[in-house]
Amino acid sequence: METNTKISVLDEVIRSRRTIRSFYGEISDETLMKILESGIYAPFGGATGIPLKEVRKIFIFRQNTESMKVVRDIINAQLKSGASRIGLLLKLMPFLRKKMQVFANRLKNLSENGIPGLTEGAFYIVIAEKSGFPPVEKQSLSHTMENIWLTATAYGLGFHLVSATSLLSKNKKFMKILALNQGEWALDGCVIGVPKCMPPPREDRKIENFITWIDYGSNTKSA
Ligand SMILES: Cc1cc2nc3c(=O)[nH]c(=O)nc-3n(C[C@H](O)[C@H](O)[C@H](O)COP(=O)(O)O)c2cc1C
Repeated sequence: METNTKISVLDEVIRSRRTIRSFYGEISDETLMKILESGIYAPFGGATGIPLKEVRKIFIFRQNTESMKVVRDIINAQLKSGASRIGLLLKLMPFLRKKMQVFANRLKNLSENGIPGLTEGAFYIVIAEKSGFPPVEKQSLSHTMENIWLTATAYGLGFHLVSATSLLSKNKKFMKILALNQGEWALDGCVIGVPKCMPPPREDRKIENFITWIDYGSNTKSA
């Protein structure tokens, strides 16, 4: 592919990537495999010395199966206990409200209504990244997720990060389902499916609002 075409295709995929929170229908296993394959090409912590084959695992939960129901129940229980703990914390320490109230409200809502993607999306995907030294497993998980997200976008499919998955690395029942040892893995998860509706278009973003040119060396030279 010509460089200009590559750049414009990549740019289009990056700009059209969105968080989708409602889904319907099914997607084929072949498409899912293609999407997940992008995750195994994401970078990993080479300096840990753990080979790629041992460092990253991908788990697939299919909608309308018993295992999906079990995992949904585990996540809902986790959300409920998280919401009640954070609610108590904010009652005891009201000065934390400024920082944590928005998240607390969101968690309360999810704990009451569940995560819609987990009942509607075709697949719930969990990625596990082995902890090592240096501890870069969370960064590697994000790279993996982004590859999967962009590839799902390129296929015209919806993607929803399920951050609650990370807490499940300490959940005995969940780690038993994955057959992974607690304390050795970081987790992240997402729903992939056919989007029911698209979010409203984004506001325009201007690069000038984000960048700072650092020109320290030449400033000191001229001083
Ligand atoms: C680290 C991280 C965790 C996120 N976790 C969640 C999540 O658990 N649930 C959710 O609905 N969205 C989650 N999001 C999505 C963000 O809310 C979303 O990316 C942001 O609002 C911008 O919207 P966009 O993805 O459509 O550009 C997460 C995003 C990031 C970067």
